[in-house]
Amino acid sequence: MKTVRIVAIDGPAGAGKSTIARMLAERIGLMYLDTGAMYRALTVVAQDRGIDLGDESQMVALLDSSSIFVGKSEVVINEEDVTTRIRSQEVTLGVSTVATLPGVRARLRDLQRKWAERIGGGVVEGRDIATVVFPEACLKVFLTASPSERARRRVEQIGGDLLEVEAAITLRDQRDMSRADGPLKPAEGAVVIDTTGLSVENVVATMADLYRKNCG
Ligand code: DC
Repeated sequence: MKTVRIVAIDGPAGAGKSTIARMLAERIGLMYLDTGAMYRALTVVAQDRGIDLGDESQMVALLDSSSIFVGKSEVVINEEDVTTRIRSQEVTLGVSTVATLPGVRARLRDLQRKWAERIGGGVVEGRDIATVVFPEACLKVFLTASPSERARRRVEQIGGDLLEVEAAITLRDQRDMSRADGPLKPAEGAVVIDTTGLSVENVVATMADLYRKNCG
């Protein structure tokens, strides 16, 4: 594989990954890829078709016959724009089942690597990006924040009951951290940044500095 310049960002839900990755990408002049959006888009189509989200062979067949596009501001699967639908509660609840399937993970990782190779690098964000997809990234960051802070941010963004959101976040973290394939954890050599109480600008500036030092 030819060398590509990758900033790999992992971390739990609500740690600020998307906002920070998007802003960092603009600042350092790289493209940005939200890999969670790929898992979510597949979940939307599976739910539409009534496919059992835990049925690996059906889910793999669905993925193999689908085309997924994750752009700067839109997510399209099989020519349907699902940018809004992928954020629904139904999808958010279902997606962590889809994310446990090794066959799905292997194919999505492949697409993520191809994306980076095609455009020569990027800021890529997810759960297994620095650990599995791009262990050779020039900068690996694990972004985290306390569960209550992450719930507060989610409620601010999309509403809901604070305690319920916190319980849902904790459950999703447990599922993401305990799955056998690509569990959520800081990669070897990753810089861990706890964003609790930090401004987005502060975190982006810190990461842009690290990028210049590590990837220059
Ligand atoms: O970041 P997000 O909330 O959009 O992620 C949606 C789900 O997909 C979440 O349960 C974790 C999973 N995911 C994953 O397992 N690996 C990735 N690289 C990205 C997301």
